[in-house]
Amino acid sequence: EKGTYPYYMLKEIDDQPAVMRRVIQEYTDSMGKAIIDPEIIEKMTASDRIYIVACGTSYNAGWVGKAILEKMTDIPVEVHLSSEFGYNMPLLSEKPFFIFLSQSGETADSRQVLVRTNELDFPSLTLTNMAGSTLSREADYTLLLHAGPEIAVASTKAYTAQIAVLAVLAKAVGDHKGLEASKEFDIAHELSVIAAVMETIIDEKMAISQLVEEYLSETRNAFYIGRGVDYFVSMEASLKLKEISYIQAEGFAAGELKHGTIALIEEGTPVFGVITDKKTAAHTRGNLKEVESRGAHNIVIALASLAKETDQLIIPDVHPLLTPLVSIIPTQLIAYFATLQRGYDVDKPRNLAKSVTVE
Ligand code: F6R
Repeated sequence: EKGTYPYYMLKEIDDQPAVMRRVIQEYTDSMGKAIIDPEIIEKMTASDRIYIVACGTSYNAGWVGKAILEKMTDIPVEVHLSSEFGYNMPLLSEKPFFIFLSQSGETADSRQVLVRTNELDFPSLTLTNMAGSTLSREADYTLLLHAGPEIAVASTKAYTAQIAVLAVLAKAVGDHKGLEASKEFDIAHELSVIAAVMETIIDEKMAISQLVEEYLSETRNAFYIGRGVDYFVSMEASLKLKEISYIQAEGFAAGELKHGTIALIEEGTPVFGVITDKKTAAHTRGNLKEVESRGAHNIVIALASLAKETDQLIIPDVHPLLTPLVSIIPTQLIAYFATLQRGYDVDKPRNLAKSVTVE
């Protein structure tokens, strides 16, 4: 129920701190240890490569999952679009393990790949919000997102829940392998910090609404740029913005802009820079300077420890691998307010369905 909320999307954005706490409750014990079906852990530990297959927002969550899984488990991870993978399957490793990410559990593009991997007898796991869904029934294993019903077409809390559950999974596999990186990764604690930080960002709604009025009221297009996980967040932030506000938005690897796309920057083009990674912060700032000198209006979303006074959105620090869980929040609110201010239906964008059951 959306209760007093004008739109489900806003309620679902607000739900996210509670979803993080539910993931902690469902998947960790009182000592903070990750609790995951041991069979899943064994199958993953025995595999030589993990293939994440998904569409849309779930695909974007997959990229963040890859960064976390590789760091914690030492197993290489590939991320694929279901609609491409099905008909143009890459050469697979000897012992692949498949992870399907799907909020609805009904996405036909993803199911088509699962049918194929089942024929090939490869082990598979579905992360979904829907118990009993097709992808859940047909995969060997399921981990539920516990995000609660997501009604708005634009996915928000399923994205953060997917990343959180993948982080717990990474921790469980890393611990099973006795890896140092995972021993130091106190997932229950880190996710509770995330929940609190999400709350402080959500409290900034009005400031974000004003930023949107200032920077996005006239524009037909916008860019999000970042590197590494900040690039992955940029992809998701731009998908969210374009699918509901109809502002043409692109997420770009910050360093790649100058290889062509910078030609699109004009006087007043809004460019959002996402900066949460110490090793690339200076480079992304350099790229923001380049677009600024071509007329772009920059809006910087930065982690407090990397922020400058002039940055528009400053986010308290969290664990370096989990920054997407918090840097995505202002971008969800940016998409929400841009849509509201343009007078469109936030929950039901044109041409889109919540569950895409055709290939
Ligand atoms: C975007 C969005 C879609 C879905 C995609 C996959 O906000 O909702 O891009 O993420 O259609 O859906 P699921 O996760 O249900 O497989």
